[in-house]
Amino acid sequence: MYGGAKAVFYALSRSTVLKRLASRYGMAGGESFARRFIAGETIDTAVAVARRLESEGLLLTLDYLGESVKTLEEAQAATGEYVRLIDVIVAAGIERNFSIKLTQLGIDVDRATCVDNLRRILERAGRHGFYVRIDMEHSRYIEMTLEIFETLWAQEYRNLGVALQASLYRTATDVRRMNELGARVRLVKGAYKEPPAVAYRHKAEVDAAFLRLARELLDSGTYPAIATHDERIIAAVRAYAAERAFALDRFEFQMLYGIRRDLQASLAAAGYRVRVYVPFGREWFPYFMRRLGERPANLGFVVRAILRER
Ligand code: FDA
Repeated sequence: MYGGAKAVFYALSRSTVLKRLASRYGMAGGESFARRFIAGETIDTAVAVARRLESEGLLLTLDYLGESVKTLEEAQAATGEYVRLIDVIVAAGIERNFSIKLTQLGIDVDRATCVDNLRRILERAGRHGFYVRIDMEHSRYIEMTLEIFETLWAQEYRNLGVALQASLYRTATDVRRMNELGARVRLVKGAYKEPPAVAYRHKAEVDAAFLRLARELLDSGTYPAIATHDERIIAAVRAYAAERAFALDRFEFQMLYGIRRDLQASLAAAGYRVRVYVPFGREWFPYFMRRLGERPANLGFVVRAILRER
């Protein structure tokens, strides 16, 4: 069944012992296994990665890692850090684009404060020409996330978009809801372990839903982001866009840092807009575990790196 590995890695991602061990070894030393997917723990390392990607003709979005905060202090600290990063990024001269999680801004603690935090980031980000994408988290957050998005959209914050997950039944409706607003959607398959009541159980169903929704976004959406490393889906999207003579800048592909760099490069070389999602920061453990859950074979390189370090 699709999602078995996700469930195991999701459970492990909540282990504080494992997190402590991984945090000690994952980023340290030349063989650091987390660096495969994480740009580094500091903004300086992320800027260096961003510059390299831009020199290769790729676009980027930066994710200052953090999620599921439990206190308002943590949420304020993350918000303050995003605000501070705006100045650093402007000074560095790299592309101005963030991906942000609402559980990092305190949605679990107090929804109104979370909205205020996001608004604080958007205010400053907007003044400096940043684009902000709200990542989509577990299905229990979707309605709240879309309502917050719609509130801010109604307040004329237009430097803002959302991600939607093809693995969920509700997403067909959500795509229409966003298309009617004229909002930009990033379409992903969905990285969270979801109950069968809300999500497709088989990979083939998720892939079919992704392609259906991608076509709908290409036809009726606003500059959609097709975020996948799935070669078959990417080929089908390219064919669909070509048949309709859609301009190459009508949409963009997006991929995660460290995954299918060959595909990122070949799409960019073919003239497509390709944005790389670049996560950085000390709170990399849950993000890293989701990447392992998507492809358990990744455990091989973790084990090899640890053995080499001994
Ligand atoms: P699929 O899992 O079928 O993989 C297709 C191929 O890609 C694999 O055969 C393999 O070659 C490669 N691949 C995929 N994952 C890999 C991995 N971890 N390691 C190595 N190779 C891998 N999810 C979410 O729920 N909310 C969100 O906001 C986002 N945001 C987001 C932004 C961007 C830019 C991307 C690309 C993805 C996300 N995701 C996400 C994650 C998404 O939901 C999904 O889990 C991953 O993209 C993996 O699915 P694929 O579409 O790549 O397909």
